[in-house]
Amino acid sequence: MPALTQSEIDALGARAELMVNSLGTVSAEPDRLVRLFLTPEHRRAADRVTSWMRQVGLAVSEDALGTVRGRLEGASPKRLLIGSHIDTVINAGMYDGPFGVIAGVLAVEHFVRAGRKLPFGIDVLAFGDEEGSRFPATLASSSACAGVFKTDNLKLADRAGVTLGDAIAAYGKSVDDIPAAAYRPDEAAAYLEVHIEQGPVLEVRNQPLGVVTAIIGQTYLNVEFLGEAGHAGTVPMLLRRDALAGAAEAMMLGERLARETRGEVVATVGRMTVAPGATNVIPANVVIVFDIRSGSEAARARLVDALRGGIRALAERRHLGLTITTTREVATTPCHPYVQDQLAEAIRSAVGDAAEKPLRLGSGAGHDGQAMAKLCPVGMLFVRCRGGVSHNPMEYANPRDLGLAVAALIAFIERFDPTKLTSRTTT
Ligand code: GLV
Ligand code: MN
Ligand code: MN
Repeated sequence: MPALTQSEIDALGARAELMVNSLGTVSAEPDRLVRLFLTPEHRRAADRVTSWMRQVGLAVSEDALGTVRGRLEGASPKRLLIGSHIDTVINAGMYDGPFGVIAGVLAVEHFVRAGRKLPFGIDVLAFGDEEGSRFPATLASSSACAGVFKTDNLKLADRAGVTLGDAIAAYGKSVDDIPAAAYRPDEAAAYLEVHIEQGPVLEVRNQPLGVVTAIIGQTYLNVEFLGEAGHAGTVPMLLRRDALAGAAEAMMLGERLARETRGEVVATVGRMTVAPGATNVIPANVVIVFDIRSGSEAARARLVDALRGGIRALAERRHLGLTITTTREVATTPCHPYVQDQLAEAIRSAVGDAAEKPLRLGSGAGHDGQAMAKLCPVGMLFVRCRGGVSHNPMEYANPRDLGLAVAALIAFIERFDPTKLTSRTTT
């Protein structure tokens, strides 16, 4: 098929923006975007995605984890999986996740409209658990599709004490159907995700699109300190067992250790619970969660070891009870060389001469591709976002760039040949 014209690309971008804005209104709260896994808002967003998929002529189904699948049959049983997520962080931007699903829908629509049967099928997937904002573990939906769902995670509870197993039932699904969500490895040719970069590299390099080389590895450490509640006015400082002071020291240690790696490892504590949580009571029980990431498995492991050791020592010195649990451990996930090369070609075709040599970059953010890589080769296309800002309501991507991303996805689908996936050549 001939390449898309600039006005066709702009029209795709404008439609993508409208759809992103439409999903951006589906929130648990009126003044900020909050859409957590298996909630009524997830349901409403899934329904909206379902209606878009039906409008473009896809056959839609939903699995036990609520993943929406829009299916286009091809000439062979092989299928290209194109997806992203429709859950959000708390106080989110509108692009992180939804745009990848929307790009898939718009790209597939292009082929449906042309009335062309592709040599392989396409499933567009809208996952619901990429952010991990509700339960302590994440990627439940993509893990189910990849056939690596951990049944133990069904017991994990959200802040209100609702377990994942109960939430699945409340969403109208059955945990017994989780195995049926898995693709067979021989049917899944590859998984591809379009996503905003969530960082500043493309903008700084003046490129609308880039090819992801790998998704960096991640460890979550759940650290619980047990002290003793007491009167904030009467207990002398030296006699206290203050769980929050211990947590604060642990956080400072994590920051120092990460800084010492000079950019190789990043460590964040973005979540803490303090009990009993009263101004005039010494904190008795504090839980913090470390999110530790690095492109180097060795550097991440070294930091985790040093942090665990340091926290054990400070808890002992402060006479605090301590439990450290690893709730997430994901290795760095390389993107497949063939998929990378085809994405680079697709960017060249969509963007033209300005992208002579498309930029290749790593992803510091986590993605469903980390789970899908257990099933099949994965690849990702990044789209420039303003200021590199993400996980923030200010998140924004220009509709022109959104249009180029959909055009590149269409060009990728045009070129994609599942039989080439075993060849490991890179340009
Ligand atoms: C998800 O966006 C993550 O990287 O945590
Ligand atoms: Mn995301
Ligand atoms: Mn995110």
